[in-house]
Amino acid sequence: MTTTDSLTPSRFEHIPLAVFPTSTDASRMVAQEVAALIRSRQREGRSVVLGLATGSTPLSFYGELIRLHRAESLSFKNVITFNLDEYYGLKPEHPQSYHHFMHTHLFDHIDVPAEAIHVPDGMVPASQLEKFCLAYEEKIRAAGGIDFQILGIGRTGHIGFNEPGSARRSRTRYVTLDPLTRRDAAGDFGGEENTPRAAVTMGVRTIMDARRVVLMAWGQHKADIVRDAVEGPITPQVTASFLQEHDHCTFVLDASAAGSLTRYRTPWLIGALEDQGLAWDERMTRRAILWLSEQKKAILKLTDDDYNESSLQDLLRVHGSAYETNLVGFYQMQHTITGWPGGRDPKRTKPGDAPVRPLRGGSAQVFPKRILILSPHPDDDVISMGGTVCRLVEHGHEVHVAYQVSGANSVSDESLWRSLLFARGTGAANSAAEAFCSTFEQGDSPAATPEIMQWKGLIRRNEATAAARVCGVSSDRLHFLDLPFYHGTDRRRQLGEADLKIMGALLDELKPHLIFAAGDLDDPHGTHRLCVRVLRDALAQRISQDWAAASEIWLYRGAWAEWDASEIDLAVPLSPQEVLRRRRAIFRHETQKDQALFLGNDRREFWQRSEDRSRRLAATYNALGLAEYEAIEAFKRYAPADFAQQKQF
Ligand code: F6R
Repeated sequence: MTTTDSLTPSRFEHIPLAVFPTSTDASRMVAQEVAALIRSRQREGRSVVLGLATGSTPLSFYGELIRLHRAESLSFKNVITFNLDEYYGLKPEHPQSYHHFMHTHLFDHIDVPAEAIHVPDGMVPASQLEKFCLAYEEKIRAAGGIDFQILGIGRTGHIGFNEPGSARRSRTRYVTLDPLTRRDAAGDFGGEENTPRAAVTMGVRTIMDARRVVLMAWGQHKADIVRDAVEGPITPQVTASFLQEHDHCTFVLDASAAGSLTRYRTPWLIGALEDQGLAWDERMTRRAILWLSEQKKAILKLTDDDYNESSLQDLLRVHGSAYETNLVGFYQMQHTITGWPGGRDPKRTKPGDAPVRPLRGGSAQVFPKRILILSPHPDDDVISMGGTVCRLVEHGHEVHVAYQVSGANSVSDESLWRSLLFARGTGAANSAAEAFCSTFEQGDSPAATPEIMQWKGLIRRNEATAAARVCGVSSDRLHFLDLPFYHGTDRRRQLGEADLKIMGALLDELKPHLIFAAGDLDDPHGTHRLCVRVLRDALAQRISQDWAAASEIWLYRGAWAEWDASEIDLAVPLSPQEVLRRRRAIFRHETQKDQALFLGNDRREFWQRSEDRSRRLAATYNALGLAEYEAIEAFKRYAPADFAQQKQF
């Protein structure tokens, strides 16, 4: 397998890696390797046994296999497949079953013989499970063993459903699922309480017996567990780490999933940067200084010895001494902080004030500005940047907020029922509302008809309107885009022309000077990723227009995570009063309180997550030796042309 990354495996890595700029490039390479194997076996008149995975990871790989079948007449007639696992208790026709998944995403589109397909049966009665599992192993053996095993990795480090604690010698068996795994799957099942608790899975040993293993991982949310599996000790706590003992295993990663590996996170520990094709540019310098400070002491107190002891001699050489190096890092961080996120009002600027720092775009000097804030769901704006929204409005900018999807999927039937009770009480309930209420009151689940989903969307729209009002944004500056991709029920949601057109029309209407958007790649269901992607693509189509070229993009990180301090370009400090005002705005999203009950062991509500996160960031700044604030909201900057080319979204 060729790779875009030719660095020799360092002493830190115990599994060979192939890192690609995007998951699409990576999947294509894996598909090519599999196709070559299938074809070479065809020439020899032999069959080939593939071990297959489900989940979001292999989707683009399966897409590529289907393309090869259609466009390059790759036949699967000589292929035998064994799937890793199946949820226990789900019938094959259940839309979330792995049987269903495999047929929808692969088997129905290729010519693999039906009798060559094997997926564990999730409906085997408990008394026959052991027999079934032994028979599954036997079938794999009888087929000649697995030639090529495809794997994803769960955030618990699982391969298949071999959760932490699984033995090295385990084989196909019944297992219970880890809470984190269930939480990650909860979105597909409409909440954790509906998510299966158990599965039938191939064991670690079954997987290790495969002659070739490729584990794929995409996205930042996989980065830490990938590092643990590749660089950490071999342990049943991270079952993917057992693959360190496999003779022919490769981890195929996109750049985000590789991001926590030592070679990317702290490359100076591996050796001289020049030898790795890297340089001490602004970001790398800042990253090293913050890393050192986090381990030792405030930036301005770091000494030559601190740098020397931590493999940072080269950095000292670039700047001369610890004193000089510290100042570089300190000022970089200090210059991220401003209470004027849209730039200073020239009328209120005092002599000596830096007028627009850290804004740098062509429209930096314009005041007041037209500002577009994009919120994927109707509450992301206030959760992630509510304090900044308030400030931008107070400073007199023309602030527009666009809600990209309706958010209807996370309004419970009970929430809608309560609103319909109100309509009923006022005599305004129509027959559809009456039907919904009576079904719900009988304890049944009303069908999610387009009308019901529209009402649920309306509830969220009203909540967003009330929240924006708390921040001072008037309702005529709110835009509810209701992007159509969100209404797809398939987990492989994709952007279409209609999404791009709606996003583009808003940009054409507003021609904003600044755009704030969620740069969140951690949202497990992909909505945020598609929301930033549609902005990227719509902006790319307009990049030659003057307004677009002069604009600036500021990404916040969504509800689940915060930027690493070394990536922050704009840090907006909040006073205790502003934190309370933001809390009031988040409270307006009443239907989302229930979400806290679905979030695994972490029962914090969104306002709590928002406050914990922005207070933690303020504490980080303080520990680096900068001023002590109550809370900080943070953003990463992109020049429009760079943003339009970002592949990681
Ligand atoms: C799937 C499987 C799991 C997934 C893993 C990653 O058959 O056994 O190990 O590969 O949970 O899931 P995604 O790809 O959805 O992140």
